Amino acid sequence: MKILVTGGAGFIGSHVIRRFVTNHPSYTIYNLDALTYAGNLSNLSDIEKAPNYHFIKGDITDGPYIENLFSKYAFDKVIHLAAESHVDRSIEDPLSFVKTNIIGTVNLLNACKSIWGEDYTNKLFYHISTDEVYGSLGEDGLFTEESSYDPNSPYSASKASSDHFVRAYHETYNLPVVISNCSNNYGPNHFPEKLIPLCINNIIHQKPLPVYGDGKYTRDWLYVIDHAIAIDQVAHKGVVGETYNIGGYNEWQNIDLVKLLCDIMDEKLSRKQGSSQNLITFIKDRPGHDKRYAIDASKITKELGWKPSVTFEEGLRLTIDWYLSNADWLENVTSGNYLEYYKKMYS
Ligand code: NAD
Ligand code: TYD
Repeated sequence: MKILVTGGAGFIGSHVIRRFVTNHPSYTIYNLDALTYAGNLSNLSDIEKAPNYHFIKGDITDGPYIENLFSKYAFDKVIHLAAESHVDRSIEDPLSFVKTNIIGTVNLLNACKSIWGEDYTNKLFYHISTDEVYGSLGEDGLFTEESSYDPNSPYSASKASSDHFVRAYHETYNLPVVISNCSNNYGPNHFPEKLIPLCINNIIHQKPLPVYGDGKYTRDWLYVIDHAIAIDQVAHKGVVGETYNIGGYNEWQNIDLVKLLCDIMDEKLSRKQGSSQNLITFIKDRPGHDKRYAIDASKITKELGWKPSVTFEEGLRLTIDWYLSNADWLENVTSGNYLEYYKKMYS
């Protein structure tokens, strides 16, 4: 079984690669990644020498390259995570999201269609998507697999479009596909442009903690390793043509989450309780900011037996411990281009 994971050097992809390389030694796992600012091979240093793991540096937006790669390796399954993933960057540069998230996905679908021919036995294209495609919830309700698509940011619009293409290739060409839409992930190796690792980094350095608008926006947070476990289960037991929503049943308003992070970090860094909360700074809101996301994950629980395995407080503590004991990783990714990005977005 040859499995291609795209975007395996990124945050979620690296946890998926580690899980598959370790838990499925009979599979050969290929990691295709362009190593953009978000890709980092040091995320995988512990498994890079495993005999069933291979890294390929390549770009999913390059159609002819992808066709060649697929004819050379004849992958059986594709788990597709490669993407531009940050909403704020999508507001600055929507076209790069169109290229990677839409054209890149269609290139992969075309390559699967051409190498698999008519024989789809044991073949699968598994598309990893987000709950953001469903738009924004009001005070009540949860996103189910039946919720209509209503994306509001260039990022979520590009992911919604890629989901539609995946579905269309199933309907039109019978391609064996499955999609999962997950809520916000957090955990080790998360690039510090996203809320949780950005705040961890800023608390360490006693820099302001930028909270958009009134801070009352709500997200449903899931520990990244629980997402990787869900992806493993969907890849093995998911029904072709189906969508599975994955979430943490764990809603937090941003301001409460940032306060909790501050308190745990004050304790871990032996700082006076309350001192990090003084760093909280409300700043200009994100345009088109979605008010609330929350997932109904009952389908994957009922049909595939998956549920989150760690509580939020446990997951946050594990995450903070990882950042505190991997200062080199953090230092590496926050030097160079990150400083320019930070200045542009926050000054
Ligand atoms: P990430 O930004 O950390 O990683 C993306 C990876 O894709 C990087 O390694 C990058 O180098 C690679 N990549 C980007 N463009 C590429 C290209 N053209 N060719 C090949 N590789 C390329 O993203 P993430 O947070 O790990 O998200 C992974 C996937 O999961 C994405 O599809 C995202 O939409 C989805 N998702 C993320 C979350 C979340 O909370 N982070 C939640 C739900 C779904
Ligand atoms: P983020 O981690 O960017 O994920 P997403 O936009 O995909 O949900 O943001 C999570 C929430 O935190 C979102 O409501 C925006 C908010 N946020 C801030 O308040 N300040 C920040 O500096 C960032 C990056 C996000």
